[in-house]
Amino acid sequence: MTATIIDGKAFAASVREKVAEHVTRLQEEHGITPGLAVVLVGEDPASQVYVRNKGKQTLEAGMNSYEHKLPAETSEADLLALVEKLNADPAVHGILVQLPLPDHIDEEKVINSITPAKDVDGFHILNVGLLGTGQKSMVPCTPLGCLMMLRDQLGSLSGLNAVVVGRSNIVGKPMAQLLLRDSCTVTIAHSRTKDLADVCRGADILVAAVGRPRMIPGDWVKPGATVIDVGINRIDAPEKGEGKTRLVGDVDFDSAKEVAGAITPVPGGVGPMTIACLLANTVTACCRANN
Ligand code: GUN
Repeated sequence: MTATIIDGKAFAASVREKVAEHVTRLQEEHGITPGLAVVLVGEDPASQVYVRNKGKQTLEAGMNSYEHKLPAETSEADLLALVEKLNADPAVHGILVQLPLPDHIDEEKVINSITPAKDVDGFHILNVGLLGTGQKSMVPCTPLGCLMMLRDQLGSLSGLNAVVVGRSNIVGKPMAQLLLRDSCTVTIAHSRTKDLADVCRGADILVAAVGRPRMIPGDWVKPGATVIDVGINRIDAPEKGEGKTRLVGDVDFDSAKEVAGAITPVPGGVGPMTIACLLANTVTACCRANN
């Protein structure tokens, strides 16, 4: 059996299209343009790429994009002052502070200083609590994108065994909450889990978010399972030439696709969905602010 390859790029394009239509309606019917502020501290190359893409796609969806690029030596107090300013700015409906932040800045303090209603990452402790108790919240973008792909692929998720490998605050934990909310039986596994292979083999839905290149081989995958690979790992690719690299997921795609029912590729799977969901969250924040 060869798995259906889930096309995250096409799915993300359709989400962005719906977001753009919603933005047009907000402008025409209410005279409002949603605005997203993205704050980048320092010059981390991967973060710079993400922030550039976020800004570009925000504008393409017809929204306002406000980029704040600060030097790596910015003080915590100055960053908190900027967040305060954005919290108070009525043109800004969503605020995203790109992580990781430099070591001298307390990440949790900064995240928790964002007004929860503008926290389009869904990382503020209030949003984490609301999600955990099944209340209306901002939902972290990557798990939200994974959930959309799972629902699209499987319809109802009710009663399915879901295994999330990885327990990060950004992906693993909120992913587990979302799957639980959709009535899955959820296991959160991680690097210390005993018999990880057997745990994975029980999964109808397997979400890999550990950040270890090709850690999950095909023989850990239950035949017919839906596999969502959140990993984006850059590895050396000498076959492409000296010094060349390429991206691989946390799942060994070539062996897993022979067993799974459906699987997301890397790149072109979960990745594009994250920014699409960020745009959707910004529109949601804007609608809630104006209701
Ligand atoms: N760094 C890597 N992923 C993310 C994300 O989803 N949000 C923020 N703010 N920073 C990130």
